[in-house]
Amino acid sequence: MCKLNILLFFHILLVTTIFTVNSSSYCEVREPKFNILYNFTKLTNVVEDIVINGEHANESIRIQLCSPLKGKCDGRDGYGICLGKDKKEIGIGKLPPKIVNKLGEILFTFTGDDCNVNAKYKVTIQMKCDYLAVNNTKPELSLSTEKPCNFNMVWKSIVACGPRVQQNCTVSDHGNHYDLSTLTKYSDNYVIRLGDKKPSVIILNICHSVIFQGGAMCQSKSGVCLRNFEDEYINLGDVQGTPILKNNELQIEYTEGAICKNKNIAATDIKTTISFVCDLNAMDTLPVYVKGNEECHYQLTWRTAAACSVESLRTHRLNKPTTCAVTNPVSNLTYDLQSLTNKDYYVMVLDNVQYKFRVCGPLMDKICNSGTGVCLVNNGTSMGKPNSNLMWKESGPYLNYTNGDLCSNGQRRYTIISFVCGNEVKLYTPVIMEEHPCWFMIHWQTNLVCEKRVKCITANNEIDLTPLMNETSNYVVKVNGSEFHINVCQPLAPISYLMCAHGSAACKATATTNNQFVNVTNLGFPKDRPVLNKDQQVELHYFDGSPCPEDSNKKISSNLTFFCDPNNKGQPEYKSYANCTYIFEWKTSITCGAVTGEWSSPCIIKDRLLSHECDLSLLYVEHEVHHVTSKQGKQYSLNLCGDKKYCTDSAICQGTNNYGSLATVIFDYNKDVIKLQYSNGSKCTNSSYTSEVRFICNETVGVGVPNLLWVST
Ligand SMILES: *[C@@H]1O[C@H](CO)[C@@H](O)[C@H](O)[C@H]1NC(C)=O
Ligand SMILES: *[C@@H]1O[C@H](CO)[C@@H](O)[C@H](O)[C@H]1NC(C)=O
Ligand SMILES: *[C@@H]1O[C@H](CO)[C@@H](O)[C@H](O)[C@H]1NC(C)=O
Ligand SMILES: *[C@@H]1O[C@H](CO)[C@@H](O)[C@H](O)[C@H]1NC(C)=O
Ligand SMILES: *[C@@H]1O[C@H](CO)[C@@H](O)[C@H](O)[C@H]1NC(C)=O
Ligand SMILES: *[C@@H]1O[C@H](CO)[C@@H](O)[C@H](O)[C@H]1NC(C)=O
Ligand SMILES: *[C@@H]1O[C@H](CO)[C@@H](O)[C@H](O)[C@H]1NC(C)=O
Ligand SMILES: *[C@@H]1O[C@H](CO)[C@@H](O)[C@H](O)[C@H]1NC(C)=O
Ligand SMILES: *[C@@H]1O[C@H](CO)[C@@H](O)[C@H](O)[C@H]1NC(C)=O
Ligand SMILES: *[C@@H]1O[C@H](CO)[C@@H](O)[C@H](O)[C@H]1NC(C)=O
Ligand SMILES: *[C@@H]1O[C@H](CO)[C@@H](O)[C@H](O)[C@H]1NC(C)=O
Repeated sequence: MCKLNILLFFHILLVTTIFTVNSSSYCEVREPKFNILYNFTKLTNVVEDIVINGEHANESIRIQLCSPLKGKCDGRDGYGICLGKDKKEIGIGKLPPKIVNKLGEILFTFTGDDCNVNAKYKVTIQMKCDYLAVNNTKPELSLSTEKPCNFNMVWKSIVACGPRVQQNCTVSDHGNHYDLSTLTKYSDNYVIRLGDKKPSVIILNICHSVIFQGGAMCQSKSGVCLRNFEDEYINLGDVQGTPILKNNELQIEYTEGAICKNKNIAATDIKTTISFVCDLNAMDTLPVYVKGNEECHYQLTWRTAAACSVESLRTHRLNKPTTCAVTNPVSNLTYDLQSLTNKDYYVMVLDNVQYKFRVCGPLMDKICNSGTGVCLVNNGTSMGKPNSNLMWKESGPYLNYTNGDLCSNGQRRYTIISFVCGNEVKLYTPVIMEEHPCWFMIHWQTNLVCEKRVKCITANNEIDLTPLMNETSNYVVKVNGSEFHINVCQPLAPISYLMCAHGSAACKATATTNNQFVNVTNLGFPKDRPVLNKDQQVELHYFDGSPCPEDSNKKISSNLTFFCDPNNKGQPEYKSYANCTYIFEWKTSITCGAVTGEWSSPCIIKDRLLSHECDLSLLYVEHEVHHVTSKQGKQYSLNLCGDKKYCTDSAICQGTNNYGSLATVIFDYNKDVIKLQYSNGSKCTNSSYTSEVRFICNETVGVGVPNLLWVST
């Protein structure tokens, strides 16, 4: 057996060797017209097979063009291309391939195993020149070929390129520099028509000879050539010198083309002049044939930004409005909303009216006419055309989409999309802030426009007002028919029909009988974190509201002072107005901080400082024992108020482990929780089990049920 194995091994090696020698020669392909040798052997990967993605995610294709695959395909040798589908392999290309080499095109065609009863697999690889594809090139699969048994690929590489001529593409003049090299193509050419009626085309490249390929079989030094209706190629000029400036005009001259056959012309050979016209906004343009066909002097003109001086291009770029970005003129900070583009967003108003919009660009569907930025989905009314001209105002950047469909007032509909700095943790969706018959305003809180986010916690991190922040509604204080709308550390949530300044955190208005508001006054923007005053009370200040009526040099501001009141979260109260400042007070447990408490029988906890008392005995009345189960399936039992028989001297237990006896009671008013901490439970490795129960007040849940927060390991 042993010997047989060894023999077999040698046999395979022999066959492989012969095969390699045979096969490499077909990969040296000679182009017949200009006798260019393409040595595709260089595309062989001697280390491993080349792998490319197949059409589906579960498919991949292994390839060697000029030698057998290094690895077997479906356990067999002799393939150049192998399709892997999940765990299965199919030999879709056997060696050697058939090579078609004519009219400047080189195709490798492989035939493989049976695909179905009628056909075998077939792989066609088109070899294309790309002077920039130097190392480790791979073929690319052209997707969705119509026939299921056929695969088409394009392999771009420098190996498929012939000799070339290149020229320096820069020129300087009176301190101006010009660089046409951005126009140079390395795997393709510019093709333009010679006049409207003739089927002839002019093929050209810039500062580089024409790329030789199917349909562009120009001579190797030719920078421009003509293909006539009989598919003959006439050289219109070789790549010679650098661009020149002639009479203030940037030009390229390709000279020494084919012999001029017009006997009435003095010139002996054909030449071409390309004259460039600087246009800072001309991108992706093509040259145009002007005249000269008869005179053996072809003249082309090309309007392009590439022909502008490097200096003018730089200035132009600096002055161009940045798209979907704006700079705060005060702080010089730039906001870029590019990341919000290319997505659809929706806003809904009552009675199911839905608007759809995009940021800085048009919607892609056809509900509204194309080129619409905001669309009323219900009936396809355009509410404005998009632009990326982000504008600046105090509260944040905004877009004004104008020129929508005609409205009843004879004017075009428009939409304002306004961005304000949002809370760090929450993800906001856009909402409608104001709605008028012919225009409306979308309000969008986002982190992208936060210059200086207001932290809602005092600098010493002691008092955190975050629990008072309200995303969906504001605190409303009514005094003498006036209403104050207030939020904490953040802009007001949108209020129907109330047009408080966008981004302001407090606002005063008078409600009229028909649900409208008048005398709307901005009481300030949230610009600073809360501070502790000299009496150690928390204060919050809003600045830069509406102009102060008593002093036109000042703007209205608001001062909110928070007092500890353990009983509830509370409400702001209006106190006074003086010195262009509205003063509010707010009694709330949030600023009380944490206070220890004590336990008394049967089930009462009491705050030692404020004598705030909670009776927990309902926990026992409804269910003697409460249970929670961990993800691992362990069941924990809680018997906080009952006698300790259930858990043998403990309030919390799991199996035979008890999780300690009550050690501390903490009333944390700032976080709005009460904590019962248990310690000295049964032995756990080298220490003992401990536990903590947190109570969160919620008036809607009754006695509620315990949830397991976490279990330490
Ligand atoms: C083709 O390339 C291979 C590998 O680089 C080399 O061994 C071979 O000599 C080349 N053939 C010709 C004709 O230059
Ligand atoms: C591979 O994926 C395609 C689509 O993702 C699926 O249609 C095909 O059945 C899959 N092939 C196998 C063999 O699972
Ligand atoms: C082109 O010529 C200029 C001036 O002689 C030189 O500074 C530049 O490096 C050259 N560029 C190339 C690509 O050779
Ligand atoms: C903002 O930029 C302008 C122009 O560059 C400059 O004059 C101004 O001093 C800058 N302002 C700040 C606050 O940096
Ligand atoms: C579309 O609906 C809006 C709001 O309901 C209405 O104002 C507008 O007139 C409607 N437009 C058309 C063309 O029906
Ligand atoms: C938005 O554009 C409309 C239409 O041109 C104009 O009437 C309105 O004042 C603009 N609004 C803002 C805030 O720029
Ligand atoms: C409410 O009315 C009283 C008495 O007229 C007045 O002193 C007070 O300033 C008013 N408050 C507000 C907020 O206007
Ligand atoms: C409001 O607060 C600011 C900042 O602490 C303070 O300078 C100002 O005096 C206060 N205004 C009033 C009327 O209390
Ligand atoms: C912990 O429990 C053990 C036995 O249950 C007891 O002897 C010990 O005194 C307790 N320690 C504390 C600090 O309560
Ligand atoms: C108990 O074990 C932990 C981790 O294994 C170790 O860090 C700690 O020092 C130990 N404590 C005692 C009292 O041995
Ligand atoms: C109260 O509990 C309900 C139900 O679990 C929950 O939806 C709600 O957010 C809770 N309210 C507060 C203020 O935590």
